[in-house]
Amino acid sequence: MSSLSHFLVVFLFFISSVVCQVEEFISLDCGGTSNYTDRSTGIAWIPDRDYMNYGQPVGVINPNGNLVQYQRRRDFPIDNKKYCYTLATQERRRYLVRATFQYGNLKNEETYPQFQLYLDATQWYTVSILDASRIYAKEMIIRAPSDSIDVCICCATTGSPFISTLELRPLNLSMYATDYEDNFFLDVAARLNFGAPSEDSVRYPDDPYDRIWQSDLIKRPNYLVGVAPGTERINTSKNVNTKTREYPPVKVMQTAVVGTKGVLSYRLNLDNFPANARAYAYFAEIEDLGANETRKFKLSQPIMPDYNNAVVNIAENANGSYTLYEPSYMNVTLEFVLSFSFARTRDSTQGPLLNAMEICRYLRIAPKTDGHDLIVANFLRLMSAESIWTNEGDPCVPTPWEWVACSSTTPPRITKILLSRKNVTGEIPSELNNMEALTELWLDGNSLEGPLPDISNLINLKIVHIENNRLNGSIPSYLSSLPSLQELYIQNNSFTGEIPSGLLNGKIIFHYGDNPQLHKEVQDKKHFKLILGISVGVLAILSVLLVGSLLLICNRQRKTFQQQKSDSKGGSKRSGTKPSNAYSINLGGHLKDERIAYYITLSDLEEATQNFSKKIGSGSFGSVYYGKMKDGKEVAVKIMADLSSQGQFVTEVALLSRIHHRNLVPLIGYCEEEHQRILVYEYMHNGTLRDHIHDNANQKQLDWLARLCIAEDAAKGLEYLHTGCNPSIIHRDVKTSNILLDINMRAKVSDFGLSRQTEEDLTHVSSVARGTVGYLDPEYYANQQLTEKSDVYSFGVVLLELISGRKPISAEDYGPEMNIVHWARSLIRKGDVISIVDPFLLGNVKIESIWRIAEVAIQCVEQHGASRPRMQEVILAIQDAVKIEKGTDCNQKLASSSSKAQSSRKTLLTSFLEIESPDLSNDCLVPSAR
Ligand SMILES: *[C@@H]1O[C@H](CO)[C@@H](O)[C@H](O)[C@H]1NC(C)=O
Ligand SMILES: *[C@@H]1O[C@H](CO)[C@@H](O)[C@H](O)[C@H]1NC(C)=O
Ligand SMILES: *[C@@H]1O[C@H](CO)[C@@H](O)[C@H](O)[C@H]1NC(C)=O
Ligand SMILES: *[C@@H]1O[C@H](CO)[C@@H](O)[C@H](O)[C@H]1NC(C)=O
Ligand SMILES: *[C@@H]1O[C@H](CO)[C@@H](O)[C@H](O)[C@H]1NC(C)=O
Ligand SMILES: *[C@@H]1O[C@H](CO)[C@@H](O)[C@H](O)[C@H]1NC(C)=O
Repeated sequence: MSSLSHFLVVFLFFISSVVCQVEEFISLDCGGTSNYTDRSTGIAWIPDRDYMNYGQPVGVINPNGNLVQYQRRRDFPIDNKKYCYTLATQERRRYLVRATFQYGNLKNEETYPQFQLYLDATQWYTVSILDASRIYAKEMIIRAPSDSIDVCICCATTGSPFISTLELRPLNLSMYATDYEDNFFLDVAARLNFGAPSEDSVRYPDDPYDRIWQSDLIKRPNYLVGVAPGTERINTSKNVNTKTREYPPVKVMQTAVVGTKGVLSYRLNLDNFPANARAYAYFAEIEDLGANETRKFKLSQPIMPDYNNAVVNIAENANGSYTLYEPSYMNVTLEFVLSFSFARTRDSTQGPLLNAMEICRYLRIAPKTDGHDLIVANFLRLMSAESIWTNEGDPCVPTPWEWVACSSTTPPRITKILLSRKNVTGEIPSELNNMEALTELWLDGNSLEGPLPDISNLINLKIVHIENNRLNGSIPSYLSSLPSLQELYIQNNSFTGEIPSGLLNGKIIFHYGDNPQLHKEVQDKKHFKLILGISVGVLAILSVLLVGSLLLICNRQRKTFQQQKSDSKGGSKRSGTKPSNAYSINLGGHLKDERIAYYITLSDLEEATQNFSKKIGSGSFGSVYYGKMKDGKEVAVKIMADLSSQGQFVTEVALLSRIHHRNLVPLIGYCEEEHQRILVYEYMHNGTLRDHIHDNANQKQLDWLARLCIAEDAAKGLEYLHTGCNPSIIHRDVKTSNILLDINMRAKVSDFGLSRQTEEDLTHVSSVARGTVGYLDPEYYANQQLTEKSDVYSFGVVLLELISGRKPISAEDYGPEMNIVHWARSLIRKGDVISIVDPFLLGNVKIESIWRIAEVAIQCVEQHGASRPRMQEVILAIQDAVKIEKGTDCNQKLASSSSKAQSSRKTLLTSFLEIESPDLSNDCLVPSAR
């Protein structure tokens, strides 16, 4: 009698006090059959059938306990699809998401299931059932990224995937806020109630947020073992004030364990660790201590430098007994096996006490499919009569929808839409134009209406099938210039108007029949074009025959030729388009002036390079090939990545051909044909400095003096660009692979002077600084203000490479900073230059000489350009270092060592440049002054 009335009181208490919370809870009994309210908690469960259209409800035999929600589960098909529950959330509100799994019995033949649990695109947990009677519960604390989340089950490796319950609990305001929540979820690894009276968990309604606080009496292998002797369980019935941050339930705080012998220790396993975690300890003094008693303790394990020295005095820290103190560790790295212990301090009479703790793993949020693609995919899904397309979650991850294909980029993008004959109705959404990664669009055999929307952004689109629909409107002419388009099928629609001529030239497979109102261009136009085509073709043949004498005509007819080229491919393959301006006036059969770049035809270059067969490098502007001209001159032929517009290229070449310095790689010619722009440089026999420092497999190592002389040469080349030219030139990409070595091991800087056009061409597409990672001036990178000092920074990195023989960027060499500048700077500032010196040099070098270079290198890589030296000062420092090392200068050194052996192989031009005075500061005059 009394127990019944007690039960009724409790029951009514749930019904009345709880309703407001429960309304916000979503509690799905997966595979369940009806609504019911759980008597032990007052939580209202509903079956999952409104959320999930797949899988089979399965009755569980011998469920653990008599909880209704574990008497049935939902089993999913064993296939490669994913099955997702979509739960409504409020964007940016924090929630607890919980999925539980109890398999129940195991029939004889069955295998234990193992499968994946995902939250949105983030892999959450590998559910691996090892004990059929255990309830596996996974909790995640999230800040909702949007107005719904998907909890998905997929990718079974054994058995059939299933789920027992799925729960969503809103949290209050700032609970569980972290600094990392933009990028990380919190995967709950342990939430423990110490001193619990039984094995039962504490949850709703004791915890208004329905967190599950597990009893410390639960027995599992290697779980809560290693308990120190003298550990006792204590409890109180007094109220505990828990109104601080995370609001643990009073019931949990009313029990605790105490290490009466002075130590409190436990060991437990943390799934998916080692990892970075957020750890909370919950303390409340629940013993009434006498006036002569104190409780003070420290964390003695694990070792966490900032925390081990902190003395916990609960009542003092919490400002009173029966009050919560919750120190937190917002980001600690914990091992898979967590051993922790607290130890009493010497002056304390009582041992340590612990009420509860909570450990959450930071789980990086994986990107979902690009938002633009998602909009279109959902749109098309709703336009299809295939109502079965539900519960699929994200279009791309972890497994793509049946009718899309995705890239593996971050975020993933949809590359193919495969909706042939799927009863899709309505108009093609105009948002399609935002799916820039799309390569294939298959919408044929549906009932689509309306016009083809603008798809001019879809530059990756290769294949378009929209035939057999009811589409109308005109065929836009930009389709023919979509750069990747190969196949376009539009037949059997209601398109109208003229077919753009570009689609009919045979480059694109184009089917357009059965569009009664669609027609080709009107007749006389076509006729005219035919005549034009023929006459142009004739002209082309003539020009091939009479290249030499017709050059002038070719020049005038340039426009015609180009038009003709794009209309009918291949007619004028060899019709060189020579510039008609001042830069070619020195041509005409006379001796070519070595010092002005001259025009070289593509066919000559093809011959010289044996059809571009020997690639010797690829720089920031394109690929470089080895070649040998008819007169025997060896050349490096650089095919430019297409950056500049026509006029600029010629201007640029004109400018470059007037820059001459013995330490700059000379430009000897250029070519502009067939949409290709090619620069021809003198060939440098000894390759790049980079090869000599870093790729020493087959190279003789450079000694210190050789390195110094190379540095001096390169510095002079740069100094000339900065001060000898008007306007001055900033290289922007100084690095060891742009310092080339000629046959005499003299260094010359390459790839200079192409900056202006690049800047103009790139500014509207990108504000990213040009340059190479590891050499890039941080100040320029930050504010895009380019000065000569940016080159000085990069050159400082080159000097550090010369000293150390190490690469500018390397995780192994430099640890987390990854870069040579931080590494070298910290060692040099400590006075430890020896540690950065290339081991090959040590013992064979004067350390003062190294110091001189190290000092100037560190100045070069100063954070602010204003603190860096000018190239002139760098040259002086290098010359100093040479004197310290050898008491001589580089010219004498080189003259004595290398010239005798190799002089016979010198080309005319190298000798010419070598006898020149190094001071060429007047070389940058305008042509008229020459
Ligand atoms: C079950 O509960 C849901 C949500 O509270 C409600 O919408 C639905 O009508 C209920 N079904 C029955 C049969 O009571
Ligand atoms: C959540 O926060 C609001 C406002 O601070 C408060 O009124 C409410 O009681 C809190 N809810 C719970 C369950 O603590
Ligand atoms: C509280 O502690 C007393 C004595 O230590 C024990 O008898 C009692 O069962 C405990 N109560 C709970 C709820 O743990
Ligand atoms: C935690 O600290 C580590 C190391 O300091 C850091 O790499 C990580 O980004 C921090 N945050 C998270 C959420 O892991
Ligand atoms: C504290 O004082 C009480 C008597 O007031 C005594 O029984 C107890 O032993 C004392 N405890 C300690 C640790 O001195
Ligand atoms: C398309 O719809 C028609 C009629 O509504 C139906 O008969 C046909 O099976 C559907 N086709 C597909 C592939 O769903």
